[in-house]
Amino acid sequence: MYAVTLDGFGGPEVLAWAQVDDLPAPGPGEVTIDVAAAGVNRADVMQRGGFYPPPPGASEILGLEVSGVIAEVGPGVQDWQPGDAVCALLAGGGYAEKVIAPASQLLPVPEGVSLTAAAALPEAAATVWSNLVMTAGLHSGQVLLIHGGASGIGTHAIQVGRALGARVAVTAGSQAKLDRCRELGATTLIDYHDQDFVTVVSDEYSGADVILDIMGGSYLQRNVDTLAEGGQLTIIGLQGGATAELNLGALLSKRGSVHVTNLRRRPAHGPGSKAAIITEVRKHLWPLVSDGTVMPIVSAEVPITDVASAHPLLDSPATVGKVVLTVREP
Ligand SMILES: NC(=O)c1ccc[n+]([C@@H]2O[C@H](COP(=O)([O-])OP(=O)(O)OC[C@H]3O[C@@H](n4cnc5c(N)ncnc54)[C@H](OP(=O)(O)O)[C@@H]3O)[C@@H](O)[C@H]2O)c1
Repeated sequence: MYAVTLDGFGGPEVLAWAQVDDLPAPGPGEVTIDVAAAGVNRADVMQRGGFYPPPPGASEILGLEVSGVIAEVGPGVQDWQPGDAVCALLAGGGYAEKVIAPASQLLPVPEGVSLTAAAALPEAAATVWSNLVMTAGLHSGQVLLIHGGASGIGTHAIQVGRALGARVAVTAGSQAKLDRCRELGATTLIDYHDQDFVTVVSDEYSGADVILDIMGGSYLQRNVDTLAEGGQLTIIGLQGGATAELNLGALLSKRGSVHVTNLRRRPAHGPGSKAAIITEVRKHLWPLVSDGTVMPIVSAEVPITDVASAHPLLDSPATVGKVVLTVREP
């Protein structure tokens, strides 16, 4: 089969669409998917650069989410059949013509969503639902601050926050991106270049009940300063570094909490697993996607043979939401 290979670690030029070994038959509880499209994530860019190795046992091929059609089911798979249109959360291997996925990480392509756009959903849906709802318990009337509101994760989180009845504040790096965040449901718009989010959120509300953070170290103290009483900070990215000093007194006096989570390295099954998250996503979030309340936000569709031109789009001022690689015609 064909897949994206890495000629060493480095810039987009190390990416190539090349022949690789065919996959084995799916094992117990697994399915093989003929990939229609693969979502691009910041994690793929980090893995390409040599900074984010796949977890033990995962494919070395990039790609944490796909959409496609089931080609073959392995022993013991009851709920899915060859021919079913699905999207899947993966630990790797998505940038390819075919991928093997655990059946427990499949979701049906939601009503009204194209097969290509469905590739933009699993990673954002699982990350956002597990952090905002399963970890932080976000609910109606609360204030949610999302850093990087125009990112793949951020655009999904805005819509989920609004659907749950939260008041949504976002940070982004340009007015154009903030305008798009407003269209998606954010009401407090903060340009991180020239506005201080601590001041804006503290002045407009009495702090944030939940913060979804992608910056890590560089924002830690200011995030804690922004929390409301009993507020929860969920850190999912370390774009501003992995280390920081924190005045715990600020957290203690607010009875706040800090969670730092990772989706890719979660176990497939058991408490806190990917299967547990996908079950919750299908039950609670998928109806919101099917009725159009939460939409996949796809900024660009790029043929996978041009993968080297797709990765830089993540840093383009024009990109809001996700970039998707198209692998074959739906
Ligand atoms: N832990 C997990 O399980 C998990 C899962 C998925 C994703 N993530 C993490 O979540 C983050 C977003 O992922 P993605 O795939 O959606 O990436 P992405 O679309 O490439 O988004 C990255 C975002 O970072 C924003 N940003 C850069 N500097 C910023 C700053 N100083 N303040 C606020 N925002 C800033 C950019 O916003 P502007 O363009 O407006 O500057 C951009 O929207 C990444 O860090 C990724 O590693 C973690």
